[in-house]
Amino acid sequence: MKGIILAGGVGTRLDPLTRVTNKHLLPVYDKPMIYYPIMTLVEAGITDIMIVSGKGHAGHFLELLRSGGDFGARFSYGVQERPGGIAEGLGLCEGFADRQPVVVVLGDNILEDSIRPAVEQFRRQARGAKIFLKAVSNPGSFGVAEIKGSHIVDIQEKPKRPKTNLAVIGVYLYDRQVWEVVKALRPSNRGELEITDVNNFYVQQGTMTYEVLAGWWGDGGESFDSLLEAGNLVAQRWRRSPPPATVQDREAEPLST
Ligand code: TTP
Repeated sequence: MKGIILAGGVGTRLDPLTRVTNKHLLPVYDKPMIYYPIMTLVEAGITDIMIVSGKGHAGHFLELLRSGGDFGARFSYGVQERPGGIAEGLGLCEGFADRQPVVVVLGDNILEDSIRPAVEQFRRQARGAKIFLKAVSNPGSFGVAEIKGSHIVDIQEKPKRPKTNLAVIGVYLYDRQVWEVVKALRPSNRGELEITDVNNFYVQQGTMTYEVLAGWWGDGGESFDSLLEAGNLVAQRWRRSPPPATVQDREAEPLST
């Protein structure tokens, strides 16, 4: 299974922090934001990863992340010429995916939980898709899922009267059908190819399963407060148990005598 991190977009909500750099390169506690989705994938055993950035700062991603060796991973890079939507960014990864199932993580999503059990379960699911849900106090600001047993039966975008408090977060597992689905998409009213339309294809097919996250989840790009909160949550988490060291960290450690 291959991994995809989508780090295009504009980041207008974090202006002026995003005026001269990309949102996913901003600090979240002691690491650039994009380190977190990378660590989520690598911890789940996904080490062949394509990173799609916008055209303005593609070189900075390459300089920062290089081959992926620091993470025990191998990185490929793509450039999304304009922010045409999350599903458009995904469409750029078809050749990379080489007909394998994929795990897609949005570059601003920071998760406390491991997705490894879900990824392993999905490998056995064989067909369809799986998304992650988080119970939130303000579901009306998100895509909201309605569930029945192990499947999702409806996803509503920012509903006025949410039927559940389960927000759809930015981690998606898809089988190889996804490439046909993306090709058939038409731009929405806001001119973007919408990931919700991809997810709704699987919902209508009856093959969309889900996992509910128990730990915290942060969307670091939503607002200044969400960026600050993500940093604080990471700091508290690392105090309880430190993150796995990257090769880079290990090289920086003093030699023990
Ligand atoms: P958003 O937060 O919806 O969009 P944005 O990053 O442009 O921010 P803003 O609304 O403040 O301008 O994007 C969610 C994630 O999806 C983010 O990590 C970037 C990624 N993304 C892409 O990779 N390509 C795109 O075309 C868009 C719109 C988003």
